[in-house]
Amino acid sequence: MCGIAGVTGASDALQYLIDSLFRLEYRGYDSAGIALQTSDGIWRVRAATGTTSIKSVKKLADELGYPVAAGIGHTRWATHGRPSEDNAHPHLDCSGRIAVVHNGIIENHVLLSDELAAEGHELTSETDTEVVAHLIEDGMADGLSLTGAVRRCLERIRGHYALVVISSDEPELLVAARSVSPLVAGISKGMATLASDIPALLSHATEIFALEDGQLAEVWPGKLVVSSLAGDTVLPRSLQVNWTLEEAKREGFEDYMAKEMHEQPRAISDTLLGRMSPQGRIILDETRFDDDELREVEKVFVVACGSSYHAGLVAKYALEHWARLPVEIDIASEFRYRDPVLDSRTLVVGVSQSGETLDTLMAMREAAYWNSKLLVITNVVDSSMAREAHGVLYTRAGPEIGVAATKTHLTQMIALELLALYLAQLRGTLYPAEVAALIEQLNALPEKVQHVLEEESAVKEVALSVASVRDFFFIGRHVGFPVALEGALKLKEISYLRAEGYPAGELKHGPIALIEPGTVVVAVATRTRLWDKLMANIAEVKARGATVIAVANYGDQETAEAVDQVLWVPETNPLFAPVVDVVPLQLLAYHLAKAHGHDVDHPRNLAKTVTVE
Ligand code: G6P
Repeated sequence: MCGIAGVTGASDALQYLIDSLFRLEYRGYDSAGIALQTSDGIWRVRAATGTTSIKSVKKLADELGYPVAAGIGHTRWATHGRPSEDNAHPHLDCSGRIAVVHNGIIENHVLLSDELAAEGHELTSETDTEVVAHLIEDGMADGLSLTGAVRRCLERIRGHYALVVISSDEPELLVAARSVSPLVAGISKGMATLASDIPALLSHATEIFALEDGQLAEVWPGKLVVSSLAGDTVLPRSLQVNWTLEEAKREGFEDYMAKEMHEQPRAISDTLLGRMSPQGRIILDETRFDDDELREVEKVFVVACGSSYHAGLVAKYALEHWARLPVEIDIASEFRYRDPVLDSRTLVVGVSQSGETLDTLMAMREAAYWNSKLLVITNVVDSSMAREAHGVLYTRAGPEIGVAATKTHLTQMIALELLALYLAQLRGTLYPAEVAALIEQLNALPEKVQHVLEEESAVKEVALSVASVRDFFFIGRHVGFPVALEGALKLKEISYLRAEGYPAGELKHGPIALIEPGTVVVAVATRTRLWDKLMANIAEVKARGATVIAVANYGDQETAEAVDQVLWVPETNPLFAPVVDVVPLQLLAYHLAKAHGHDVDHPRNLAKTVTVE
């Protein structure tokens, strides 16, 4: 998730790009950069000074001393390569005549950069993006125009991208292309702009157009030509935008939490990208562990806090079932104080969206002291945990602004499922055909999550029907248990209602005493392993007057008849079910919080990153 902007025909391209980058800062800002079309060719400045990166770029670029009409800019959220000036965009080819900004992930970049290096290209960054500049350089060296060279490059790259490219050979032209990652174009008299998101364009464009997947755009001052990859001209899709800047940053959603829940299908598919081969194997080369080291592992500990802990609980089921490894899962703040038995054959997996939570960091240091192998699953490249761990598996959710974790939680579960399947593949506890079949089901998850999000109005109705209730129980069994915990946590965090998450079989040992007419019990009742036992637990609470809301699979009338209301979800492999089943519970918490008039992005007493014990 990065912010990209481009302009041609501006009276002051530098000022325009800087303003646009500030408007895109919510997409990340670990570094920033711009490339301008000057009378002496392309002039590039970049900075990696964290929150001040854009300001630093402006200061450096002012040294040019005269206004120019065209250029591109980028504000980065690192996915490949740590945040540094070398990894900041725009990236140049060897000659410095071509500059590229990119948002997304180029899946086959390692293969392409090896090939380009062997041909004599000099690649200077650790990013997946730089290969694009060099591939275009090759095309132009073969006599192609900038557009022709971009088209040829697109045939070589695989993955998700929004790209904007300039060349000093055609200084008025911006060429852009899109696959999955968003890209919009704005046209006004004598000027044209391109950006990853609408906020960047709002101030200058009189007409806004959205590029579709597989389209290429050529942009000159006041003019936009869109074509298919095959080169046929197509009519661009015009957008009616009457958003304020703040609304545009949230893509029209009321708050960041809503936007981020709706980004989940894309976040999952980004996290899966490049980690499964077409032959049906899991590829996790990037973790920095070699396979022999991982084969030595005899036991796994997962340490985490909050929603990350709940993702870790799901991993326990997956790792034990598929990889046949014993797994302990611990709340990070407890782990190091209980004298855990650790050694070099133990793999300790820290799960943390921020990579900075002090309790998890300290738990990992405890494990390092005992020479355990440390793997971190995090959303922030080069965060403290990513630097200290021996290996890293990044989730690719992009920046999450809402304090309550949503898309980072789902992508953590995806990364952990990938890890479980990888270890199973390595240890031979699953046949290759079984891994391949599971990969197919993983690939279907973004669409299933999308289906749940499309049911939002039905979930809202259920939320409104229980808006006056103050006591909620969330129950589940097997992998439904961590989903119940996460559902209860979401409700507590943003709606301040009492919500207890419980393993359903444990109700009879105490909590059932609290059930009385009017209590709402939310049961995760999809068809996972212990469904029939869960139905018996539902009968127990119904008998005591509870109102039961069940998360159930489409068409499951048997469950529907046993409860009061249903939140419908598609069916998937039981061990992947938490990824789908938790989504209606996020929506339920969201709509209950809104019904109570709360600010869901800034819940009271909470912080996004907790760096105290
Ligand atoms: C805070 C956040 C939670 C998060 C937890 C752990 O409490 O509000 O959403 O789950 O920290 O954070 P981490 O960054 O380690 O995942």
